[in-house]
Amino acid sequence: MSKKTDLLKLVRKNILELSPYRSARDDFDSGILLDANENALGAPFEDDLELNRYPMPYQEELRARIAEFREIQAENVFVGVGSDEAIDLLYRIFCVPGKDRVLITPPTYGMYKVSANINDVAVDKVLLTPDFQLQVKETLAAVTPDTKIIFLCSPNNPTANSLNTDDILKIIEAFDGIVVVDEAYIDFSEQQSFATRLKDYNNLVVLQTMSKSFGLAGIRLGIALADPAVIDLMMKVKAPYNVNKLTSKAAIRGLSFINAMKAKVDQILSERKKVIQKLETIPEVQKVFHTDANFLLFRIENALRIYEEVAAKGVVVRYRGNEPHCEDCLRLTIGTPQENEQFFEALNSVLKKDRS
Ligand SMILES: Cc1ncc(COP(=O)(O)O)c(C=O)c1O
Repeated sequence: MSKKTDLLKLVRKNILELSPYRSARDDFDSGILLDANENALGAPFEDDLELNRYPMPYQEELRARIAEFREIQAENVFVGVGSDEAIDLLYRIFCVPGKDRVLITPPTYGMYKVSANINDVAVDKVLLTPDFQLQVKETLAAVTPDTKIIFLCSPNNPTANSLNTDDILKIIEAFDGIVVVDEAYIDFSEQQSFATRLKDYNNLVVLQTMSKSFGLAGIRLGIALADPAVIDLMMKVKAPYNVNKLTSKAAIRGLSFINAMKAKVDQILSERKKVIQKLETIPEVQKVFHTDANFLLFRIENALRIYEEVAAKGVVVRYRGNEPHCEDCLRLTIGTPQENEQFFEALNSVLKKDRS
């Protein structure tokens, strides 16, 4: 199946009419560069990256490398300061503040709502089912004429499971707005990326990141994959030099070590299996939810107190008990074997005290 949405109808009028900032490097990027008020004498330390010069505004090399890895075209790739920049840009491009709405499916990643609040965009919510799948009919029924974006997260945070592919497709097919599929954790999952479906759906935006499988959260490199028309809009609205040279270099380096990245993902998956098995032997643990990510959600009696007491022993996990369907749930990132062991030591010592 495939579908073409009239994207221009969705875009805010001021963005359609925007003349973007033209940076000095848009016209010439070599020669004697006296055009951008840089410091020609250079950084005050040894520098082989020419950090005295602004970075490339459109990051052509990095985008080409990402496109090659994900088997799409560079024109389908946007890079920004974390996925969070991409999320914010989508609001600014498509949602008129104080008028338009987005739809989210809690429990899910908190940034969709925070970014909506920052941009003065109303948020409608249709909960996932208790087993953390989409309520497709109800979600589509909640769409209003002002709904511009539906955010789906697969594998989902904090629940860690993937949403059913067919359910996501039904929403992309039926909704005449932007459908964001956030795939921050896709490399830990056996599901195929929705990036392969960009040819079929110009209303689809896939979010990815180098923060998780690539182990590069510190460089803040987020990725949006979408129809070239959407990417062009994102390029037009973003800050001119959003991705800095250090980040770009580290990201390109990361993309040169795909096998090493995959080996670490495999290690995390095998560690995840051990963590699940251990959790399942603990009587106070009521449920370990299915995970397709580098973390998992589990339900344990007195979760909030356990969370606090485990933290007091130096192991920090995330309490998610306030999220819908997540009563008494903790979210645990899979660590190194030693870190996981320390988590179990802390947890077992808290539980032992409770039992005595
Ligand atoms: C679902 C989801 N999307 C996006 C992000 C943020 O990614 P980035 O580090 O690229 O901003 C996270 C981080 O935890 C996440 O869980």
